[in-house]
Amino acid sequence: MSEPFDIVIFGGAGDLAFRKILPALYRAFREDKLPQGSRIVPCCRNPKDVGSYHQQALAGLQTHLSGAEYDQDVALDFGTCIMPMEVDISAPGTHWTELAALINSEAERVRVYYLAIPPTIFGACCQRLNESGLISPQSRVVVEKPLGYDAASAQAINDEIAQYFDESAIYRIDHYLGKETVQNLMALRFTNVIFEHLWDAKSIDHVQISISETVGLEGRAGFYNEAGALRDMVQNHLLQLLCLVAMESPHKMRANSIRAEKVKVLEALRPMSGGDVAANTVRGQYVAGNQDGKLVAGYLEELEQAGSHTETFVALRAYIDNWRWARVPFYLRTGKRMKQRSAEIVIQYKCVSHRVYGAEAGPLTPNRLIIRLQPDESIQLVMMSKDLNTLDMELQPATLNLNFSESASRVKSDAYKRLILDVVAANHSLFIHRDEVEHAWAWIDPIIEAWQAADQSPHLYRAGTWGPPESDELLAEDGFRWYNSG
Ligand code: BG6
Repeated sequence: MSEPFDIVIFGGAGDLAFRKILPALYRAFREDKLPQGSRIVPCCRNPKDVGSYHQQALAGLQTHLSGAEYDQDVALDFGTCIMPMEVDISAPGTHWTELAALINSEAERVRVYYLAIPPTIFGACCQRLNESGLISPQSRVVVEKPLGYDAASAQAINDEIAQYFDESAIYRIDHYLGKETVQNLMALRFTNVIFEHLWDAKSIDHVQISISETVGLEGRAGFYNEAGALRDMVQNHLLQLLCLVAMESPHKMRANSIRAEKVKVLEALRPMSGGDVAANTVRGQYVAGNQDGKLVAGYLEELEQAGSHTETFVALRAYIDNWRWARVPFYLRTGKRMKQRSAEIVIQYKCVSHRVYGAEAGPLTPNRLIIRLQPDESIQLVMMSKDLNTLDMELQPATLNLNFSESASRVKSDAYKRLILDVVAANHSLFIHRDEVEHAWAWIDPIIEAWQAADQSPHLYRAGTWGPPESDELLAEDGFRWYNSG
């Protein structure tokens, strides 16, 4: 086990802390990856939260961990590492002095400042850390998406943090990069010779990257209604997945090499504006519908506000203008209240160039590589084979299935646990460089501007479906269809 470290969570009584950060740290503790003596310091503005923090933390763990993971004795032991404090970011003073006294009592330790707070106060928080003498050479700062609202605000936030922390001490989380199968995507691409020669416009027909969710607003109405699906999911998670699918092999699996390759992909994304946006994007919003046998409310009812045009669904067609990907469409799709929760990348290959079997052997299905990130992690390869149930020469698609969710003794994967431990280990490979954030916004901004200029209402889709029919039409125009999991 490595040296003990300190993690200070600003927004310590917030949803992210209870839902993701503490469960991740509990898992690390349970797996002996939280070295003895490490301290977790949730900072809360409200003194009442400090008083009841341990009860709230235990309740949060019970809610957010599976029954098999939660163990009351382990949770109580874990609780002894948690030292909540009252700290108000907007007010310098005693609380900051107390925090500094606590943290500086272990001056040599790695200290992680996790800013689980709105980006509008990142700058103020970093300033207080600096004034209070809390920034040491071993300090790291972790920030969460959304990093800004557009390119200009993202740049302003990055500049503010950069006044106090060097880029090498800043860890921008995109939790999708911490998912096991996302890392496996890089392993698949860069350790198997069979794929490299089949990973370009000569062999690949098109790529689908789809993240569908069944949840609705989950109490985040204010944030979500301002953001919408494009900012909330496409600017970050989907574009990161696209980068991992499309990038060239980095020289080494080192952070700077990986980030440099991702930036090249973002730079090569064909810009869209005006009429291109109308032709290549679909915005949707859910209305009431039947989800898993239950009637769920529509977006506007959930929001309790009529007239919002915020998109809860987006589908788009993108192109990467470089040699490898010339003219290969990348279809991206994400939405809330869809039929199933799933995240999948589908690489569809071209059909064989010449058909040797006659029509009586049946239709040929193109090969498809399906990388499923959730709910169950798997990699499948759909290929044609002879139907062995008949003596006739009949062809049928068969699936090679690498199902990781079935491997028995695997430790529970948790993107946040993985990423927090990487911060402690100063491993940047799975974090986003500011250049990536800013390039991603530069591609997204004109899309939003064109939507705003057109001022059209989103296409409606019933909750519990795969989105509006216009999303199917986007692919049908090119002779394709979405592969919906399940
Ligand atoms: C977050 C978005 O980044 O990702 C949420 O803000 C979304 O709106 C969530 O629900 C999805 O993450 P996951 O890991 O549940 O697919």
